[in-house]
Amino acid sequence: MLDWIATGHYELGFAQMPMESASVIAEKFTPVPAVAILPEGHPLARKRVIRPRDFAGEPFIAMELTTPLRHRIDLVFTDAGAICETRAETPLSMIACGLVASDAGVSIIDPLSAVEYVGRGIVMRPFVPRILFDIVLLRSAHRALSPLAQEFVDEFRGAGEVFATQGNRLATYLGCMNTWWSRGAALLSARGCLVSRNDVTEPRLVGHGMCSDVTLPRMSIYACNRSITMGRPTTDDLLRSLVDSANRPLSEATAMEPGLYRSEEILGLEHELIFNREWLCVGRAADIKTPGDYVTFRIGDQPVVTIRGKDGVVRSFANICLHRMMQLLTGSGNCRRIVCPYHAWTYDIDGRVIGAPYMDKSAGFKPRDHKLPEIRTEIWHGWIYVTLNPQAAPVAERLAVLDGIVSRYRMEHYVPVATEDYVWNTNWKLLTENFMESYHLPVAHRATVGAWFPVDDNGFDEKVFESFTYQTFTKNEDATYGRAHKDNTALDGRWRYTSVMPTVYPSHMYVLAPDHLWYLSLQPRGLGQVDVRFGVALAPEVIAQLADRDGFVRDTIAFFDKVNAEDKSVVEGIYQGAKAPLSKPGRLSWMEREIHDFMGYLARRLAPATSSARTPRLAAGSD
Ligand code: FES
Ligand SMILES: [Fe+2]
Repeated sequence: MLDWIATGHYELGFAQMPMESASVIAEKFTPVPAVAILPEGHPLARKRVIRPRDFAGEPFIAMELTTPLRHRIDLVFTDAGAICETRAETPLSMIACGLVASDAGVSIIDPLSAVEYVGRGIVMRPFVPRILFDIVLLRSAHRALSPLAQEFVDEFRGAGEVFATQGNRLATYLGCMNTWWSRGAALLSARGCLVSRNDVTEPRLVGHGMCSDVTLPRMSIYACNRSITMGRPTTDDLLRSLVDSANRPLSEATAMEPGLYRSEEILGLEHELIFNREWLCVGRAADIKTPGDYVTFRIGDQPVVTIRGKDGVVRSFANICLHRMMQLLTGSGNCRRIVCPYHAWTYDIDGRVIGAPYMDKSAGFKPRDHKLPEIRTEIWHGWIYVTLNPQAAPVAERLAVLDGIVSRYRMEHYVPVATEDYVWNTNWKLLTENFMESYHLPVAHRATVGAWFPVDDNGFDEKVFESFTYQTFTKNEDATYGRAHKDNTALDGRWRYTSVMPTVYPSHMYVLAPDHLWYLSLQPRGLGQVDVRFGVALAPEVIAQLADRDGFVRDTIAFFDKVNAEDKSVVEGIYQGAKAPLSKPGRLSWMEREIHDFMGYLARRLAPATSSARTPRLAAGSD
């Protein structure tokens, strides 16, 4: 239960025992009296209260010796000089209830469990003298209770205090328990929650959330499933959960809340705080080798064209006509000038207007006074990066540490052989995360790259970086791709069969192998759609030795198309999963280390006020 609460699966729980955890606060409630339980129709059921001597000669279902309640019951019986004959011992109140309902004996248990069985084969009576039963409320140490959970706790506490302080009248007992369960459940139901007290696997549908009581060894729990009990989580809830999980060690972390993939508000923040501010990858500079070569791209709602000028410099411009906002170029190609497809305003490839028909009567209008807005563009190891942010630090500065890791491959010389654009039906973060973990390789890619991948060779940096994350892996000797060509003189030893997989935040990721690279650059198109630019480039010594270049390239592309189809199927599948109302985040494996890093990045960008002070690992290894 501590784990459930620490990981955010449940917002609160009630337990019998004192518990300790750095991530969970255990708050003591007013102790409540234990109750006697009897089979229905038992002669003692005629009594209004049960005392120790009433149980003389009765077969007794006892709690196990290790439970705190057992110890107190034994003391009360000893003080009263009464002897109870133990027929069975159990660690679970619910099992005691079941045995009593089967006429196996009588028992004394906590009232929270007893109330579940009243009317199902047992009767409950106050037990005198009172044997107090401790209840602790468990909640996260890092997160305040939601207003609904707080309201529920207040109700529960109020009823418990009445129960503890009033007399031993059965009506009081039943009244308080009714308040606990029925009013508590009604409170949650009224907020559109799904309520189940008996069986978490068969919840009774009331609304959209779930609230369950379950029984685990030695603890009775009334727990609210945080991800859905509270109806649709607010943006603040989602960001808090992101920060919580990012700040936990990987060994305690969970995946992201499903709501982070399905909230329009979160997507809006991602555009504003991430995509409009970061460097994004357009593709390879070698894709636009000659003057006039261009490739189009999009940053949020801003269409971009990146074009090589007559001076050989790669520049990017707003790809929108200065006349009446028509998009100028689409796809990629080569042009000597840019002609708007609407009214034929014409631009030089440096962005300046050089012609505008029938504008001679527009007072003072001089075409050459107008130029497309230029967008910051930098080339780094052959990658073209663009940003709308005039303040963004230069790429080389942001990726200085990564330079030390990837420069040995000399990837700027790799020759592009394919670039393709797709639209996949998933949230962009799910595809980014999929790229970041090799956990799925032996399973989802067992028919392709999965077979070449020794899992134990998957390596991670001990540091966490501000602008990127990466992992390394090796390829075994059976691999068709991924090992250095014999003419490769740049790489030594293990590096000859090691690949590096950087993700430059937010959405540029590539596999850099000794003989090839392939990459993805993503741009969200909506919550459930992402534009994917995919490309492959080969090391120059590989290209130089090819007898049948076209055939090799065709086979290579066909192979990667297969790998992409495998990924598409899983990332589109998990987006559907993220939309399912009962979905909740699961625990992460050590192989998903980069997903955890990515969560830290998202937390720093989307919730800087709450997360920046709490990224100690980052401070140790910041780039
Ligand atoms: S919108 Fe481009 S020429 Fe009119
Ligand atoms: Fe994959």
